[in-house]
Amino acid sequence: MGIPQPAFYIFKCEQSAPPGMPKPSCVTPQTQDLFQYLAQSLMKQGVMGTVQPIRTSCMNRCQMGPVMLVEPGHTMYAGLTKEKIDRIIEEHILGGNVVEEYVIDKEMWDEPISPADMKKQMGM
Ligand code: FES
Repeated sequence: MGIPQPAFYIFKCEQSAPPGMPKPSCVTPQTQDLFQYLAQSLMKQGVMGTVQPIRTSCMNRCQMGPVMLVEPGHTMYAGLTKEKIDRIIEEHILGGNVVEEYVIDKEMWDEPISPADMKKQMGM
């Protein structure tokens, strides 16, 4: 038997805008420990490895931050807090149900455009 691939990847952006920059940031002094909290919670649940948390750079939804993307499923959670992370692990990761009320607004996260269609739109 081979090494099992993860059942989920959870991407958490870890980019903080320098002080004074107009761009809101997913990482502020109040939210800087969310990645660590996520990783520790997964460890406590005994599911680290089959759920792989990943630090990423900006996912272009800073104004809704802190955000976190769960794959598979392209589920983007917005306005994260520790309490929200607890529920997402319990209900989505362990329970298999997306926590709809924490999902980013549809207008900020609409259906994807296929790369082939994107090329056509660009006239390429
Ligand atoms: S830094 Fe998180 S979406 Fe930009």
